[in-house]
Amino acid sequence: MSFLPSDDGAFQWRGFMLDACRHFWPMEEVRRLVDGMALLKLNVLHFHLSEDQGWRFESKKWPKLTEIGAWRDETLVGRPAKWEDGNLYPESYKDKFDGKKHGGFYTQDELKELCAYAKKKGITVVPEIDMPGHMRAARAAYPELGYDGKVLKVGKAWGVYPEVLRVDELGLKFCKDILDELCEVFDSPYIHIGGDECPKSEWEESQTAREQLKEIGGKHMDELQRHFTTQIAAYLHEKGKKMLGWDEIIDGGVPGGDPIVVAWRDWTKAAQRSTAAGVQTIQAPGLLYFDHAQGPVDKEPLSIGPGADLEAVYAFDPYKGIEEEHKDLIYGMQAQIWTEYVPTIDHLWYMVFPRLIALADVAYLGDKRPSYEEFRKGLPARLEELKALGIGSHPL
Ligand code: ACM
Repeated sequence: MSFLPSDDGAFQWRGFMLDACRHFWPMEEVRRLVDGMALLKLNVLHFHLSEDQGWRFESKKWPKLTEIGAWRDETLVGRPAKWEDGNLYPESYKDKFDGKKHGGFYTQDELKELCAYAKKKGITVVPEIDMPGHMRAARAAYPELGYDGKVLKVGKAWGVYPEVLRVDELGLKFCKDILDELCEVFDSPYIHIGGDECPKSEWEESQTAREQLKEIGGKHMDELQRHFTTQIAAYLHEKGKKMLGWDEIIDGGVPGGDPIVVAWRDWTKAAQRSTAAGVQTIQAPGLLYFDHAQGPVDKEPLSIGPGADLEAVYAFDPYKGIEEEHKDLIYGMQAQIWTEYVPTIDHLWYMVFPRLIALADVAYLGDKRPSYEEFRKGLPARLEELKALGIGSHPL
């Protein structure tokens, strides 16, 4: 059974993820995106609302999340200097910043209105608050949310910050408070809790975290994350919601609560792993990461790196590498736009379209979609329709 509207497509979950954290998007543009998605018969807007570099969801219980956590002093220009060494710790001394404050957030009322607006167009808005990693903005607002209580600033560079959430009683209380508010605002039956890229260095250094691990009889900190995620899933279940998380949520074993995994790592290997573990899965591999360039990187504007072109997206096979007996576990697919290297809305449309049209057709028509040549022939007219909504694209 599906909780999603417009159930008539080849795949039930036909999604698109918008990162509103690395760069903040006015609500007007989010609505425009919803208009465009509706034209393409997509039915899920996965709205990524918390990050190291900015917290975007108004909380009445934890107001400093937006008073402090929604704003960064400045933003990295270009790439983090240390990335190339494989060291993901950002803000190295060589990095350059633009000196401009950046941020913003969505009020609960605005988000409720967005949900109602999207619903009328057959789209469910699924919110994501990332926990327990990617928490630096929340930590800047409330230093007590880290085991070490360190005072931090909202992240201003790209990469994975090592500062994460404490997952003892206080961390859990924080998450439950936020989830209470999230469930109040979003009528989606699904809540995405992130769970990706949570470095364990702080936990390993913390006596409290080490004791927690011992108490649950675990050996590796991934098991502590699993324990945390299981408690979150149970809490959401009590509230009548289903939990989704990025594929890291099964690293320490599948958490309880029958979660759905959004599989992103290693192109399509993550989905092989999650389906083999019996977990319902949404395909979101690197091929569908539209923050990656859609043409040769030397001819495209700065992006996170090389990616799939339009034809490759149209040829996407969500069952590739999935065992026959696990295919039923593929719930659908989604593309994502992470916005580190996407500073303006025009650039966002440029990165997303026309690739999102290709993905939408794979998701809606499946094997019944026409040949790539036919698809290409229809594209100019479809791009015109999007243009009439104020949505641009990469040139064909
Ligand atoms: C992710 O790209 N960190 C889910």
